[in-house]
Amino acid sequence: MKNFTFQNTTKLIFGRGTIARLTKELPADVRLMVTFGGGSVKTNGVYDQVMAALKGRDFVEFWGIEPNPKVETLRKAVALGKEKKVDYLLSVGGGSVADGTKLIAASLRSALDPWDIVLDNGKIGEMVPYATVMTLPATGSEMNLNAVISNLATDEKFGMAVPRRPEFSILDPETTFSLPDEQIAYGICDTFVHVAEQYMTTAGQSPLMDRWAEGILLTLVETAPKIRADKRNYDAMADYMLSATMGLNGFIAMGVSQDWATHSIGHELTALHGISHGQTLAIVLPAMMRVLRDQKMSKLLQYGERVWGIVSGTPAERAEAAIDRTEEFFRSLGLATRLSELNVGEATIAEIERRFSSRGVAFGEGRNVDGPKAGEVLRKCLRAN
Ligand code: NZQ
Ligand code: ZN
Repeated sequence: MKNFTFQNTTKLIFGRGTIARLTKELPADVRLMVTFGGGSVKTNGVYDQVMAALKGRDFVEFWGIEPNPKVETLRKAVALGKEKKVDYLLSVGGGSVADGTKLIAASLRSALDPWDIVLDNGKIGEMVPYATVMTLPATGSEMNLNAVISNLATDEKFGMAVPRRPEFSILDPETTFSLPDEQIAYGICDTFVHVAEQYMTTAGQSPLMDRWAEGILLTLVETAPKIRADKRNYDAMADYMLSATMGLNGFIAMGVSQDWATHSIGHELTALHGISHGQTLAIVLPAMMRVLRDQKMSKLLQYGERVWGIVSGTPAERAEAAIDRTEEFFRSLGLATRLSELNVGEATIAEIERRFSSRGVAFGEGRNVDGPKAGEVLRKCLRAN
């Protein structure tokens, strides 16, 4: 196990009716800005619950943080927040609203353009405190330091890390009952791949981290059919929601190496084609595992046995079977697993290869997923064989 420091200060408030807790959890004397997406909260009762909890307070609302939040939109929120001297933020919505709110919180006390902050997180100085009400389980943004921000002008999408976590996050599984089926599929896949990015490296680093990660993967595999059968199944939604939080809040990453090459390629597919985040991952992860099969062999065999019960065959056959089962799981969610299904072809692959090479980046636990390797992965998932 590698050395590590762990601290996660976000207070997690989980369960039915918990949005009412905002009244007590938000400090009394702050100049509050509440941030929203495109309006789903107005149709599922979340907005009304938030307004009831904020009754008697003075606050500013900012609407319109879109999926894959754009810096162009967030600049407007920063300008409004500066004008109103906002000193506390509350995000109400999915991961995009939470991520956008993190960049607003990092920009309010800065003279820099928010995109400069995305490109160089080291330039973040004092950050305004913020909290979240999460309505979509997927990103783990409610309890982590990450944000992923897009730039319309340049067709870029980059992850960043902020120095301050949400003060608290409220997760009421009932708020997810209004999610469209495809958002649930994207969210389950995103959660699965977050765990895979922290798990599918080399075996033998930490039995404890392995068991926790496998526990989340198994929970997703067992829970997904229940949710597909009835998305108002509270207990199933609650397990999925908590899996999403636990999948990317640092708990399964202590002392182990991490990958993140699948996400890095997925972000390019979103930046270039607007493909939803979870959908990009369903396409890239199986191909990534196929291309890096030998490097990841020890973990693939462990994963195959413990998550899918695969115990017979040669190591190569067992690893292939584990990857096939993963791809079948994504397909069972209703997701595409090949680029051709989304009309993405060679021109995009060449552009992603070019971008990685010109940036001089290489991802993965072995730091070997560079431009050419990303091209190889993408050609592997171009079309069904
Ligand atoms: O905008 P509104 O109207 O609220 O609608 C949203 C949006 O259209 C809707 N929605 C959310 N909650 C709903 C709902 N509709 C009905 N009922 C509800 N309860 O769902 C749509 C998608 O929302 P979005 O917030 O974009 O989805 P998600 O939470 O999956 O976030 C995706 C973004 O997070 C980034 C992704 O790259 C992407 O930009 N990620 C953030 C991470 C992090 N902060 O740690 C890690 C992830 O790997 C990921 O990259
Ligand atoms: Zn993700």
